[in-house]
This record gives sequence, structure tokens and C-alpha cells, in this order.
Amino acid sequence: MRRKLFEVLTVSVLITALLAGCSEKNIEETEADAAASVASSAEEKEMTPADMRVGVFIYKLSDTYMSLFKDELIKDLVKAGFKEENITVVNSAVSQGYQMLQLRKLIASGVDILVVNPVNTSKTAEVTDLAMEAEVPLVYVNREPDAAEEIRWESESMPVTYIGCDARQAGTFQGKIIMDLGFENIDKNGDGVLQYIMVKGEKNNADTYFRTRYSIDALKKAGWNVEKLAEGNGNWDKNVAEYVVTEALEENPSPEVIICNNDMMAIGALEAVSKSGLVAGDDVYIIGADAFEVALEKILEGKIVGTVFNNYVEQARLTTGTILSYMKKQNVAHFYGSDYVKVTKENAETILGIIREGDETEEEY
Ligand code: BGC
Repeated sequence: MRRKLFEVLTVSVLITALLAGCSEKNIEETEADAAASVASSAEEKEMTPADMRVGVFIYKLSDTYMSLFKDELIKDLVKAGFKEENITVVNSAVSQGYQMLQLRKLIASGVDILVVNPVNTSKTAEVTDLAMEAEVPLVYVNREPDAAEEIRWESESMPVTYIGCDARQAGTFQGKIIMDLGFENIDKNGDGVLQYIMVKGEKNNADTYFRTRYSIDALKKAGWNVEKLAEGNGNWDKNVAEYVVTEALEENPSPEVIICNNDMMAIGALEAVSKSGLVAGDDVYIIGADAFEVALEKILEGKIVGTVFNNYVEQARLTTGTILSYMKKQNVAHFYGSDYVKVTKENAETILGIIREGDETEEEY
């Protein structure tokens, strides 16, 4: 579906200018969408950012990635002229039912645009229906709805889009970072097979599924023999991951690689590894995804071997640009992706710089 979508997409000069800072590939739109000019609640009168009421629903606000994204989004919206008091942020507390309830409440009290980081990506049809009945454009972020949903937005010309990354790329990049270490260096026991532990995010999540699958596929495609010693769901959380890895190490004391679907879990894995007496970056290689500051520091210390940069700064800008496009009733595509970047000791400082200073750059809206 993603591939098909990209194939029919053509570059929009308009949105390119609006969403400066992302690659051309990521800011494409379908010509078919021209017909789908948005029937928003803002239709009758000319809206300005200062009038717009924005609802932002986050699956769990204590999630490191989502909290960084949310802060960045609010900063960007305010820069673009939105009023902070018109932005309602709702912590969905990992409950789909609660998210639906709060969505109904906010729609009833009046909202012009919804940004939803869904709790359960396979239940997004209900969220979409709710927003479409109320004629409120909808921007999904970070947790990608099912392919069937995206096909429906397109075929029914719905003012609905998804902004995030393609998790397949993250997995492939993780595999490549591992390969770059060289098989002879990783195969500590010299048996010709790479023994690994997989620490996964939440169940029923696209990032979990694709990062897990594509990291291993990349190794297999390169002809590496791999053996999974253990796997578990660390739910994107440092403490849960530490527990998962501690348990795994009891049965399998000598993994060669620990692949984690995100950085907080890589930090948890690192704790477990250190407590077990193994030396991370020497006896065993840990890899994450996201490029959080805390993980980048561990990469520079040589304790984590790499990560992939999940650029929340860019994704927040894309979201703000898309909200503005909906407001101005311009054409909006059904998918905007930002690219991941492979991060190792070589470029960790540069990425740290982007994170620390990137949000200070002046963006024109
Ligand atoms: C991020 C994780 C985050 C998760 C939340 C992923 O894309 O990499 O860090 O916890 O999204 O859904």
C-alpha cells in the first residue's frame, strides 16, 4: 500500500514550500486529492490560526517519544500563530475507550482539527468515523493505522492523513548498523551464527511489527545465520525492558546482540546487561531506535552500538504544516513520512546537536 501510494504521488510545490525542512519524497500528494478539498468545520468563515481549536490526543503522555513530540508540536503551533489556550492535549492513558470518550467530548464542545496518536491502531476506523461525522479533519501521528484504513481515506477522499516514519526503514537500518560491526566481531562464540535477544514494543503496533521483522530480514538477506534466543514485549518502556532482558539473560547468559524496538528499552536492556556482569559494547552489542539524548550519550560512551533517529522535530513541523493546509482548505496527501537516519558513534554528536538546537531554528509558516 505504501509503495503504491508513493508511486501515484506527485510533488506539490505548494506543500513543499509550506513544509520546509523535509525531503521532497516526503511531501508529496495525490492529484486525486485535489477533489478532496476539505470540508472542515471551518468551512463557512475564513479561519486564522488564532481562531483554530486544536485537539491533540496522545496514547500515553509518559511515553518519552510522544511527550517530546507533543512539546515540539505545541511550540511549532504557537510559532505559527495558534493560541496555546486553544490547544487541548488529552492523555489517553493507554485506553482506547477513554480516548474515544474524550474525543466525543471535545468534538461536542467544538474543535476544528484533531491530531490523534491512537491507542489501538486497529481501532482507528471508529476514530475516523467520529471525526468525519463531525466534519473535523484528522491527522494521525506516530502510530500508523491499518493499511485498510489508509485505502479508505483515499478512496472516499477523506480529510485524513498520517504523519510518521516508515518503520520498515528503521528495522532495515538497525540490521545495517549490526552488519557494519562485522560478523567476525559479533560472533563472540565463533559458531557461525548470530545469537540475539529481541526486545519488542507494544503488541499490535506497526512499529513493533516492522522494526522487529525488517531488522532480522536485513541480516538474513545479507546471508547471516541468526538465532533468536529470546524475545519479549518491553512496551516501549525502560523498566519493562530491563525486566524482559533480565529474565532472558537467566536462560541465555551469552547473547551476542540485543535488538530493541526503541531507545528507552535499549537503556533498560543496558541496565540488565550491566547487572548481569556482561560488558555492553564488548561482550554484547545493544541497539535501539529513536535517538533520544540519553541513548546518544550511551552511544558516545560505546555502551550502545547504534540507533536510528526518529525525527520528532520534523514530524511536529509536518503536523503543523498539515494543520495549516487543512485550515486553508489546501490539498493534503494521506501519508507524510519523515526519513530515519542511522546513528552510530560517528554521527551521534551531530544528531545531539539537532536535538538540542534543532527546535530553536526559525520556521516560516
Ligand atoms: C517510538 C517509541 C514510542 C512509540 C510510541 C515509536 O515510534 O519509536 O519510542 O514509544 O512510537 O508509539
